[in-house]
Amino acid sequence: MSQRIIDATVVTPDASTQAPVSTVLGGARVDGRVYLGPADTERAGLVTPAMAQTLADVAAAYLQGGTIEFAFPEAWGDPSESVAMTWVSDRAIAQDLSFRVNGSSDPFATVPVIRSRRLDPLRIYFHTAVLDGLSPDTIYEFEVAGFSDTVKTARVSEPKVSVISDYQQFNFGAGSQLQQIGANVTATEPDILVLNGDFINDDGLFGQVIAQLYLGFLRGVAQNYRTRDGALVPLVALVGNHEGRNDAYGAAGAFYGGDGTIGYTKDVFSFGYMPESPRRFADSAMSARIGNELLIVCLNTDHTVPMAGQLGWFTELLAAEADEVAHVLIVGHVGPFTTYSNNVFRRSSQCRVLRNFFVTVAQQYPNLRLWMEGHSHRLEIKKRLRMNYDPSFTITAPGNDQRWTDDPTGIRYLGSGPWGASRRDLTDQFQTLQSEIDGSTLMEASLYFRDNSHQVLGSIMSPSDNDIWHGWELEFLSGEVRATARGRSGAALYEITDPIPGASP
Ligand SMILES: [Fe+2]
Repeated sequence: MSQRIIDATVVTPDASTQAPVSTVLGGARVDGRVYLGPADTERAGLVTPAMAQTLADVAAAYLQGGTIEFAFPEAWGDPSESVAMTWVSDRAIAQDLSFRVNGSSDPFATVPVIRSRRLDPLRIYFHTAVLDGLSPDTIYEFEVAGFSDTVKTARVSEPKVSVISDYQQFNFGAGSQLQQIGANVTATEPDILVLNGDFINDDGLFGQVIAQLYLGFLRGVAQNYRTRDGALVPLVALVGNHEGRNDAYGAAGAFYGGDGTIGYTKDVFSFGYMPESPRRFADSAMSARIGNELLIVCLNTDHTVPMAGQLGWFTELLAAEADEVAHVLIVGHVGPFTTYSNNVFRRSSQCRVLRNFFVTVAQQYPNLRLWMEGHSHRLEIKKRLRMNYDPSFTITAPGNDQRWTDDPTGIRYLGSGPWGASRRDLTDQFQTLQSEIDGSTLMEASLYFRDNSHQVLGSIMSPSDNDIWHGWELEFLSGEVRATARGRSGAALYEITDPIPGASP
């Protein structure tokens, strides 16, 4: 393509005070997307020689049947009943997908593609179809255009959940942390995989490098996060701060008051991002539910959608469904008591609105077992904290910031990241910050990184084996909830078992 055509499609940024994004990045902005490097011009509706070649390539690939490299499943509302399968192909036109119980002689059921999109600017296409009417705890085989794989539906009793966040690495192959922690996840055999944001640091930008990173990340997840039998596990993907445009790139994320433009996340994932997605309120503000066992509420913690606008949906969802299920789990990239920094802890649009309003609503439900968070890049096990919101303070005032109590009826907050990201310090300020009501501190235990070495607050099970990078395994049992943080080697860094009041263990 010629430079002339690229220049003709560049749209200048809205804010006249900012340098043009294409100048800052040496890239281009097309249809609201900021590309690193020259952008493709197809979206401008121009027929270029490159497009003509693409059409020829697509036609050739179609005749040859195309190549499908891998597929990944998402929970489609209830992962014990339905799964959205996305497959990655070099072909723009997709065939129907066929599936049946694995190893059976049943006739294949066939379902159509509901969504096709290109991982622009790569000549790679994502196609999605929904497998519906499935039985729980069952492995299905599926086939499309000569490609086949298997996927397992969720159990409806005593489900297990893997929660991981903050990968932020560019290595997805053999020996990578994606592979190492994937082996632990496979050993646990979860029913659902919750990816709690900050995947490859795309920051809401587009371009060949970022597209390749996303492809590598998804390929690594599809290859390494399976059952012991090798079946794919349905996932749910939330956004973190690195999935939305931040203010360095001309269009600010939600907490900077910008438009919160979301990046490839919205192209590659469908559950919680497609308007037609079941149980979606807004991008990454959605819930999944496993029968009457587990309700997983996913928040977009102010990265691309303002938090305050999710409060009504959150309140109504819990009021309508919390009593129908045995357990409730809340997940969000930033948590109500996130200790990332003083700024984040006291940010009105984020931690404060979470603590004061979302927690005040959520702690009314005694079957809310856990609240999982990421973002801080260390291991954190917080005490059972109860928020004592005083409405006489305004939302922007600090009056409610330290009104928690350490209380057995409080919510357990666990996290906080890193699957592969850089390890961070737990500053003294957050080790000693006290409640103004009962004098309690926030943390039961933490594993953090200071002066180039690992430090422990409280008690960690395998401090000699630790390196902070970890994933969480959650088991929702009939008598208790068990949570285990497991490091790269497979050693447990922390195990916590909370009995369920009134249940016989
Ligand atoms: Fe992160």
